[in-house]
Amino acid sequence: MLMTSILIVDDDKAIRENLAKYLSESFTTYTASNGRDAIAQIKNNPDIEIVLSDLKMPEMDGIELLQQIKAGSRDIVMIFVTGFSTIESAVEAMRKGAYDYLTKPIDLNKLDITIKNAIENKKLRSENIMLKQQIREKFDATSLVGNSSKIGDIMDLVKRVSSTKATALLLGESGTGKELVANIIHYNSSVADGPFIKVNCSALAEGVLESELFGHEKGAFTGALYMKKGRFELANGGTLFLDEIGDLPLSIQVKLLRFLQESEFERVGGTKTIKVDVRIISATNKDLEQYVREEKFRDDLFYRLNVVTISVPPLRERKEDVKLIVSHHLRRFAEIHNKQVKGITPEAMKVIKSYHWPGNVRELMNCIESAVVMSLSDKIDVDCLPPFLTMKVSGKAAPDAASNLFELEKKAIFEALKTTSGNKAEAARLLGIGLRTLYRKLDQYNENQK
Ligand SMILES: Nc1ncnc2c1ncn2[C@@H]1O[C@H](COP(=O)(O)OP(=O)(O)OP(=O)(O)O)[C@@H](O)[C@H]1O
Ligand SMILES: [Mg+2]
Repeated sequence: MLMTSILIVDDDKAIRENLAKYLSESFTTYTASNGRDAIAQIKNNPDIEIVLSDLKMPEMDGIELLQQIKAGSRDIVMIFVTGFSTIESAVEAMRKGAYDYLTKPIDLNKLDITIKNAIENKKLRSENIMLKQQIREKFDATSLVGNSSKIGDIMDLVKRVSSTKATALLLGESGTGKELVANIIHYNSSVADGPFIKVNCSALAEGVLESELFGHEKGAFTGALYMKKGRFELANGGTLFLDEIGDLPLSIQVKLLRFLQESEFERVGGTKTIKVDVRIISATNKDLEQYVREEKFRDDLFYRLNVVTISVPPLRERKEDVKLIVSHHLRRFAEIHNKQVKGITPEAMKVIKSYHWPGNVRELMNCIESAVVMSLSDKIDVDCLPPFLTMKVSGKAAPDAASNLFELEKKAIFEALKTTSGNKAEAARLLGIGLRTLYRKLDQYNENQK
C-alpha cells in the first residue's frame, strides 16, 4: 500500500526535524520552514495529503496557509500545532476548515491518533464523493432508455422541470419508469446534493403514515418515547418523492395541502411550526381525476400536486423503445450475473416485440434477466425466453394432448414465479391471470403431487 505523505511546516528547525524523523517511520515526510515554502512543496509534490503546520510563523502564518490550500483544488487535510497563547487562532482555523489541532508540547500518542483519524476521515470523504458521483451517473439523462418521440418528450419536460422547484406529478401504469423519472429529476436539479427521500403512501397504515411523514413529539402517543423527525424534515434541502399518492388517506391529504400552500407543518402531538424547503414529486398509477370525482382525493390537493404533469406511456404504446431497453438491460444483467451474453437473436427479439407487456418495463426487465441467466451461448434465443412469451407467439403449444397444455401452463407458472422471486401477486400479473386463479392452480399442482 502507498504510504501517506505528510508535510511538516514549522519555523523552528529542531521541532520540524524531530517531527519529520518520528513520522518518517510510518509516512513519507516533507518539511517546510514557512508558509510560502509549504505552498511550493505542495505544488511540487502531488502526493502530499496531510499538512501538519505550526500556526504562528513569520511572513505567512498558518491561517493564511490554510486559506491558500483550501482555495486550491486538492483535498488536503490540515492539522495545526499550537502553543497555549494561540489557542484562539487554532479555534479560528478549525472554523475555516482545519481538521484538528494539537497543543505544544506535542504528545506523540495524540499525534498518532490524530493522523490516523485524519486519514480515515479523508478516505470516507472521498468514498462519499465517489458514491454520490456514481448515483448521479446512474441517473443522468441517458438512464431513461428509449428512442421513441414519447421518451424524447418526457426528457424535454424532465430537463425543464429539473431546473425549477416546481411540484411534479408523474402518471403512468405500473412499471413504466415513474420512480426512475423522479430520480432523474432530483439528480439533475439544483438540490442534487440534498437528500432524495421516498415515501410509499400505500405501504403504511394511516396513523403510522402521518408520523412517518410529519414526525412526532416525545409522548405524542403511547410508545412515542422520543421525538422523531418525519420524512418532510429529512428531505429538507432536497426532494420528497411521494409514491402511490392516490392511496393517501383524506386526513393526511389535508396536512399535505397545507404544507404545499405554506411550506410548514407541525409534528404529530406538537405545536411548534416547522418550516422546510422541500420539492415534492408525487406519482401514481391510479386515475387521480376519477378519484377526485369519487371524492377519494381532494380536488384542491390534486391541483397543487399537478403543477407539472409527466405521463409515462405504457411500453406497448412505444414499441420502438423495446430494442434499446433490451440491449441496455441485457448488458447490465450479463455483468451482474457474470454471463458472456452479448446479444439476442432476431427471432427472440421478434417474440419480445410482439408481446404486449402489461407489466411494462419492469416486466420486460425481469424477462431479460431470466433469459440472461438461462442462456447457454453468447446470444439469447427463443428457448431462453420465459414460456409465457413463447407459448403465446410460437404456436408450439399444439394441443395434441390436454396434458401437454397442462404441462405448459404449469411450466409458465413456475417460470413466472421464478422471475418474480416467488412473488405470487407479481407472477399473476406477469401471466395475466388473477391472483386467486394462481393460488387455485398451485393447489392443483400440490394435489397432483400427493
Ligand atoms: N426507459 C427505461 N429505461 C431503462 N430502464 C427503465 C426504463 N423505464 C423503467 N425502467 C426500469 O424499470 C423498473 C421499473 O421502473 P419504476 O420503478 O420507475 O416504475 P414505476 O412506474 O415507478 O412502477 P410502479 O408504479 O409499479 O411503482 C426500474 O428498475 C427502472 O429502472
Ligand atoms: Mg414506482
